[in-house]
Amino acid sequence: MEVVNLDLGAESYPVYIGSGLMADGAILHPHIKGQQVCVVSNTTVGPIYGEKLRQQLGGDRAVDYIELPDGEEYKTLDSLNKIITHLLENRHERSTTLIALGGGVVGDITGFAAACYLRGVNFLQFPTTLLAQVDSSVGGKTGVNHPLGKNLIGAFKQPECVLIDIDTLTTLPDRELRAGMAEVIKHAAIRDIEFISWLEENLDRIQSLEPVTMSALVKRNCQIKAAIVSADEKEKGTRAILNLGHTFGHAIENAMGYGVWLHGEAVAAGSVMAADLSFRMGMLTSGECKRFKALIAAAGLPVCPPAEITPEQFVDLMKMDKKASGGEMRFVLLNGLGTATLVDRVDSDLLRQTLSAGDTLCEC
Ligand code: NAD
Ligand code: GLY
Repeated sequence: MEVVNLDLGAESYPVYIGSGLMADGAILHPHIKGQQVCVVSNTTVGPIYGEKLRQQLGGDRAVDYIELPDGEEYKTLDSLNKIITHLLENRHERSTTLIALGGGVVGDITGFAAACYLRGVNFLQFPTTLLAQVDSSVGGKTGVNHPLGKNLIGAFKQPECVLIDIDTLTTLPDRELRAGMAEVIKHAAIRDIEFISWLEENLDRIQSLEPVTMSALVKRNCQIKAAIVSADEKEKGTRAILNLGHTFGHAIENAMGYGVWLHGEAVAAGSVMAADLSFRMGMLTSGECKRFKALIAAAGLPVCPPAEITPEQFVDLMKMDKKASGGEMRFVLLNGLGTATLVDRVDSDLLRQTLSAGDTLCEC
């Protein structure tokens, strides 16, 4: 088992990574404080892993369970309210522990419920998608969507620990595995040029879920994310670079209807758009741009946005982004492959060129 520590003073916590962790209650138990536990999952993951996890939780504890409907379209205040009502009806006290068992949707909603319920209770993350293992379960961003925009309601709430059992990836549909690779490539692009080369060399092993490769992949991602979050937990500055591709990507998710494009797919196309804009701004070379797009394509991800979203629609939606400031859109751009920066002002003509480039993005 590998352990990556998130260094946040009194709120520091470990991220455990390995095979067979779900069957190992000894790792889990020290992180459960009281006598009540509630596992939150969904109608897809719950039937596969719910019972296995619950077997590790028993003993003297009361183990409760909530199953949400599956899908990004259920990442709503209504789902949050269902969790809160269930906890109240079942008399969960302040000492209770919530356990998120699922992908990023379950993790984000459960974490937000843990932040809100009785002004905050203990919570653990058991991420079961690649995206959740490499990104969403680590760092404490929790929340739900609003019809006007993605992840606009939420809180920072750090888990007590994150338990990543890479065996859960074996039941994950291929499309979801590919979607997770978008956040992996994002981490490499913003922080680690050598990791870009490693990904280019190891794509076949990743696609066949070779265990040693997957453990190394998840660990490197958690290290990158942990370093950035430890430096800027509440996103006052540098943490914003983790949003590479998200300003464009959130606009795609919203315009298409939540759940139509997967979050990772939207981030992939959005990252290529960010690379294209970086080139137009003189921050990325043509060769770097093409290399980045080629890696996204090799991972089986979309390299351009849906043709039906107009540049005007993009701009309207991007103004709702959380990073917008004083009504101005702000973008995470690449300052060379392996380095990212938050840019306050972009030339509107250059932005329009990116928004109109369609499938010629990055072919500069
Ligand atoms: P998801 O949670 O919808 O999971 C994808 C699909 O895979 C779902 O149908 C789910 O039921 C299924 N699934 C999950 N694990 C499975 C398994 N082991 N076997 C079989 N099926 C499984 O999507 P996601 O890609 O995990 O997460 C996307 C969400 O994460 C978005 O809402 C996004 O905004 C959020 N996110 C949050 C952060 C953060 O920092 N909090 C970071 C990135 C993304
Ligand atoms: N996924 C972006 C962040 O955690 O900050």
